[in-house]
Amino acid sequence: MIDAQTALAQPHVTRREDYSPPEWLVPEVALDFDLDAERTRVKARLEVTRRGAHDAPLRLNGAGQAPLAVLVDGVAVNDWRLDGEDLIIPLAGGRHVVETEVEIAPERNTQLMGLYASGENLCTQCEAEGFRRITYFPDRPDVLARYRVRMSADKARFPVLLANGDPVASGDLPGGRHWAEWHDPFPKPTYLFALVAGDLAVNRGTFVTQSGREVALGIWVRRADLPRTDHALDALKAAMAWDERVYGREYDLDVFNIVAVDDFNFGAMENKGLNIFNSRYILADPDTATDYDYDAIAAVVAHEYFHNWSGNRVTCRDWFQLSLKEGFTVYRDQSFSADQGSAAVKRIEDVRGLRASQFPEDSGPLAHPVRPESYIEISNFYTATIYNKGAELIRMMATILGPAKFRAATDLYFSRFDGTAATCEDFVACMEEAGEVDLSRFRLWYSQAGTPRVSVSISDNGGRATLRLAQHVPPTPGQPDKQPMVLPLKVKLFGAETGRPLTPERLVLFDTLSESITFEGLAERPVMSINRGFSAPVIIESDRPATDLAFLSAHDDDPFARYEAMQQLMLDTLVAATVEGRADHRAVIDAVANTLGDATLDRAFVAEAVLLPSESFIGDQLVTVDPDAIFAAREALRRDLGTALAAQWRAAYDEGDGRPYAYNPAAKGLRRLRNVALGYIAASGAADIAPLAFRQFERADNMTDRQAALTTLVNGDWDERAAALDIFYNRYADNPLVLDKWFQTQALSTRDDTPSAVAALAAHPDFTLANPNRARSLIGAFGANQRAFNAIDGRGYRFLADQLIALDRINPQTAAKLLPPLGRWRRFDTRRAGLMRAELERIVAVPELSKDLFEQASKSLE
Ligand code: ARG
Ligand code: ZN
Repeated sequence: MIDAQTALAQPHVTRREDYSPPEWLVPEVALDFDLDAERTRVKARLEVTRRGAHDAPLRLNGAGQAPLAVLVDGVAVNDWRLDGEDLIIPLAGGRHVVETEVEIAPERNTQLMGLYASGENLCTQCEAEGFRRITYFPDRPDVLARYRVRMSADKARFPVLLANGDPVASGDLPGGRHWAEWHDPFPKPTYLFALVAGDLAVNRGTFVTQSGREVALGIWVRRADLPRTDHALDALKAAMAWDERVYGREYDLDVFNIVAVDDFNFGAMENKGLNIFNSRYILADPDTATDYDYDAIAAVVAHEYFHNWSGNRVTCRDWFQLSLKEGFTVYRDQSFSADQGSAAVKRIEDVRGLRASQFPEDSGPLAHPVRPESYIEISNFYTATIYNKGAELIRMMATILGPAKFRAATDLYFSRFDGTAATCEDFVACMEEAGEVDLSRFRLWYSQAGTPRVSVSISDNGGRATLRLAQHVPPTPGQPDKQPMVLPLKVKLFGAETGRPLTPERLVLFDTLSESITFEGLAERPVMSINRGFSAPVIIESDRPATDLAFLSAHDDDPFARYEAMQQLMLDTLVAATVEGRADHRAVIDAVANTLGDATLDRAFVAEAVLLPSESFIGDQLVTVDPDAIFAAREALRRDLGTALAAQWRAAYDEGDGRPYAYNPAAKGLRRLRNVALGYIAASGAADIAPLAFRQFERADNMTDRQAALTTLVNGDWDERAAALDIFYNRYADNPLVLDKWFQTQALSTRDDTPSAVAALAAHPDFTLANPNRARSLIGAFGANQRAFNAIDGRGYRFLADQLIALDRINPQTAAKLLPPLGRWRRFDTRRAGLMRAELERIVAVPELSKDLFEQASKSLE
C-alpha cells in the first residue's frame, strides 16, 4: 500500500531521454480576457492540427482551474476528461477548432506564476510552466502559436492594457469598461506570452533600426516612479544598437514595451515585445540606486532585449535545453557590459560571481550538468550552472573559434533555426560547421557536471622550461566517473628578473588527463601566467610561490591575470592563517601597497584587486569549513592591511572625496575605491571611523556612498550605528527597493549578534514573505553571511528552515531558491552538519510540501 507520505516522496521525474515531439500543434490561438483582480474569465480559441499519423487525443495542460465550457468546431462537447490537471479531448480529424473557458483569481495567486496581482496592477509570468495556470494549452516550448489577445477591464482601475506584439484596436464598453486587442505576428511558445493591465505611466523613446524602421519604446511604471526610468531607457537603446553592430540582429516589431512590477520571482522576463521586470532592475536615480544597481539594470535590460533573438526567434525545444538561450544570452549581456566600461573589471566581477554561486553549486548536492538529464520541478533549474557556467561554455567556444568564425557561426545558427525550437546540440553543430573545428569532445561540457581542477607546474632547466598540466573532474551526484574535458587555457611566460614577456600568449587546448609542453630559448627564469582572462572555468592548483604571485600581480600585462595572482596570494595566506591560526601577512601587504601606489591603473581595477576573497570562497578551499576561524583570519589580515597602509587608504579615500556625483566609469571607479578604503580604515580600528563614516553617510549625494557608509556603521558598535539606521529607514520608508537595502545591510552584518538581529527583523512590520525581494533581502542575505548563518548553536539553520516552511505555502519557487545554504552540510564539522541535516529532514517531512522545495531539500540530504 502506498500511503500519502510515500506518494509524496515519489513525485514525477521528467527525463531528457523521454522527449518526444508534440502530437498536436496549435498554429493559431485567440484569447479573450475579461479582467478583474478577484475573478478573471479566460476564453481560449485554439486551431489545432494533428502532427503525423497517430490517434492520440488532444492533451491540454492546466493547473488550478476547471473547464467551464469545452467546444469542438463550435459545438459544446462532454466527452472530455481530466488526467490529473490536464484536459484530454478526443478529436476525430486532423484539424479542429477547440474552445475552452475558465475562471481564475489573480489576487489569490501568491505564487506569482500565471496571471497575478502586483500592487494595483495585473501581470503575468509564464516561464517555465505558468501559462497552464491561465488557460488550457499544450504548455511546452516546442509548440509555437500565433497569438491574438483581447482584454477588457474596468477603465478607471486598468486604463492601460498591454500584450505581446503590436496593438490592433481598442475601444470603450458600457459600464465604465474598455477593451484592447493585440496581435503578435511571430509564432511563440506559451512561456513568452504576457499581458499587463494597470494604471501605469510611460517613459517613451524611439529607436531607428539599421534598416530604417522606427520602433516605439515604452517603459511603464507607477506614475511616481517615472523619474527613475531614464537609465533603463538609455540602456535599452544601447542594447538595441549593440546587437545590430556585434551580432547583426535587428528588432522585428513596431513596439517594444517594458513594465516594472514590485512582486516578481526573479530578475525579469523576455516576453515577446512586452518584457516584464522586477522593479529593482528598472528603477534608478542617484539618491536610491547604487553604481552596482545601475550596472545591473543595464545588464538585465540588455539581457532581456537580447533574448528577442537568442530565445524568442530561436527558442528551446524542451527545458533541458534551457542553457541554449540562457547561457548564450548571459554571454551576450556580459560582452555588452564589457563594451560599456572596463572589460577587465567586468570579467573580474563575472568570475567573482561564478565562484560565489556556481562553483559551490557544482561541488554540492544540487550539482547538475549545463544540460540536465532530469528534473522534478523545472523552476529549480534556473541556476548559476545553466546561466553562468552556460555562458562560460559559449565564451570557450568563442575563444576556440576566434571572433570572425564565432560571428559566422552565430549567423548560421540564427538563420538556420529562426522560427524554430532548437537544442544545445544544434548550437554546437553550427559552431563546428562555421568554425571549421571538431567539438566532439568539447560537448562533454554540456553533459558532465563538476568544476575541473587543473594542477600546473613549470620546471626551469636554464633556457628551456616544461609546463606540466594534469586535470581531474570530481564526482558529482549520479556521475561518479568523469572523462577529461577540453580546456582552452591561455598561457604566457614572463621573465622573473626583467618582468618582460618571454613568449607571446598561447592558447593551449588541454584535453587529456595530463600533458607537458616545452618552451625553448628562454632568456631568464620564467614565471607562468595561466588561464589568463579566465579562459576556462576551472580551478587552477599551482605551486607558484608567493614571490611569483606578487611578481605577476605587479607585472602581468593581462589585468585579469594580475587580479588573479593577487587573489591567489591572498587566498594562500588566508588558508594558511585559518589552518595554522596565524600567517605572515607581509607579501600581501607589499603587493597591495604596490597596486594601490600604481597611478597608471584604473581606480575600479585597483578597488577590485585589493579586496580580499570572501569568507565563503576561503571556505571552499578547505576540507572542513570553520566559519569562525575563517572570519578571524580574514579580519586579522584586514586589520593589518588597514594599519600598515593607513596613509594610502586615507589618500584613496580623499581622492574620491567631495566630488559631485556623476555616473561614468571614472567617477564609479573613484567611488568604489573610496568605499573599499573606508572599509580598510574601519578594519584598522582608526579612532575617527565612526564620525568619518557618519559624515559620509550624511553628506552623500548618492546611494553608493550612503550605503557603503551605512554598511561600515552597521558592522560596528557605535552610537552612530542606530542613528544612521533610523535616518535611513525614515528617509526611504516609502521606497521598497531601498528598504530592501536596509534589511540586507543588517543581515550581512559582521557583528556577533547578527543571528538574533535577523530573527528580530523577521518580525518587523515592514518584513513580509509575500514579496520576493523583501524575503531575499533578509533571508537570502542571511544565508550568504557565512559566519552568522553557521552559528554553532544552529539557530541560523533553524531560522532559515522556519522561514522556508512558511514561505513554501505562499511562494514555493522563491522558497526553493533560498534553500541551498542548508545543503552545504557536508562541508562542515559533524556538529553543524548534524544540525543542518535535522533542519532538512524537518522540511522534507512537512505535509503538502511543494515539489519545488521537496526536490531541493531531498536532494540536499542524499
Ligand atoms: N527567462 C528569464 C531570464 O531572462 C528568467 C525566467 C526565470 N523563470 C523561472 N521559472 N525561474 O533569465
Ligand atoms: Zn534570460
